[in-house]
Amino acid sequence: MDKKLKKLEEKVKVELNNIKDDKVLSELKVKYLGRKGELTKILKEIKNLSLEEKPKLGKLANKIKKELINIFDNAEKILSSQKFNNLSFDASMPGQDKEVGSIHPISVIQYEIEDSFKQLGFKVYDGPQLESEYYNFTSLNIPKDHPARDTQDTFWLEDNNILRTHTSNLQVRMLEKEGVPFRGIFPGRVFRNESTDSSHDHTFYQLEGLMVAKDINIGNLIAVMKVLLSSVFKTNVDVRLRPGFFPFVEPGFEMDIKCLVCEGEGCSVCKKSGWVELMPCGMVHPKVLVAADIDYKKYSGFAFGLGLTRMVMMKYKIEDIRLLEAGDLRFLKQF
Ligand code: PHE
Repeated sequence: MDKKLKKLEEKVKVELNNIKDDKVLSELKVKYLGRKGELTKILKEIKNLSLEEKPKLGKLANKIKKELINIFDNAEKILSSQKFNNLSFDASMPGQDKEVGSIHPISVIQYEIEDSFKQLGFKVYDGPQLESEYYNFTSLNIPKDHPARDTQDTFWLEDNNILRTHTSNLQVRMLEKEGVPFRGIFPGRVFRNESTDSSHDHTFYQLEGLMVAKDINIGNLIAVMKVLLSSVFKTNVDVRLRPGFFPFVEPGFEMDIKCLVCEGEGCSVCKKSGWVELMPCGMVHPKVLVAADIDYKKYSGFAFGLGLTRMVMMKYKIEDIRLLEAGDLRFLKQF
């Protein structure tokens, strides 16, 4: 019996020596230590021994059992550490960038503009895309039946709300909420009931700017426009300022830039004119200030409505506006 036990111990040690698989290891554990295992069988024989031998062998058997348990534990530890060391990757390496996607070109430009406006002390605001007629039109000095409403083909909902046609819907909203002095930009999605072609889509992006404080004048407006253009194009662009009519600014202007897609020669983006209307702007109309409960004798301001989608088309020389909302990965992966 003594010999049997020692032999068993030797056998286990040899078998465990070159084990590489934890499944094999647990099978061996059952084979030796399990309820019907070899050690258990030997232990069961102890009761048949003589009274003298019993305590001696019982002690030895327990010792060997403990040793075997230890040996198995160690083998398990070694296996699992080997497994970790054999991993074919370094867990401290940064992850692989497989198909993580890219930032949409409109967002790229939006974030750049946001950064430069934040440096000028402007805050970035977001607001509803589903809007009341009041904030989208009436509060901006565009009363019902005013022909200016016709220039913005509108999606009407059954409850008389609308999908906002421009980011100017936030002018009175934000002035009411924040009071004066006010400096903010409102980038976002706007909607018009357009039939689509390479330069029109029913969904596009604008970025509105609004500043209202004491003694604001056209000089301030032009200075801010320049910051905006140089932050996006990072090069000199030719601009021209024309009078423009919008009921919520007075005086109102259109700021055009020379088409960067065709460099002024005429293409589908600039409708063959060589110039692209990029930034309507002007001094905030007193009626808008009144709607926001601001004393127009003390305060003045400027507003501009950048065609963000258009600017992105200029910057990246994209000839068809529909690509921007189409979700085509072959297009998006280029940014
Ligand atoms: N909201 C006007 C449009 O979409 C643009 C605009 C904004 C004009 C601010 C003047 C001042 O056509």
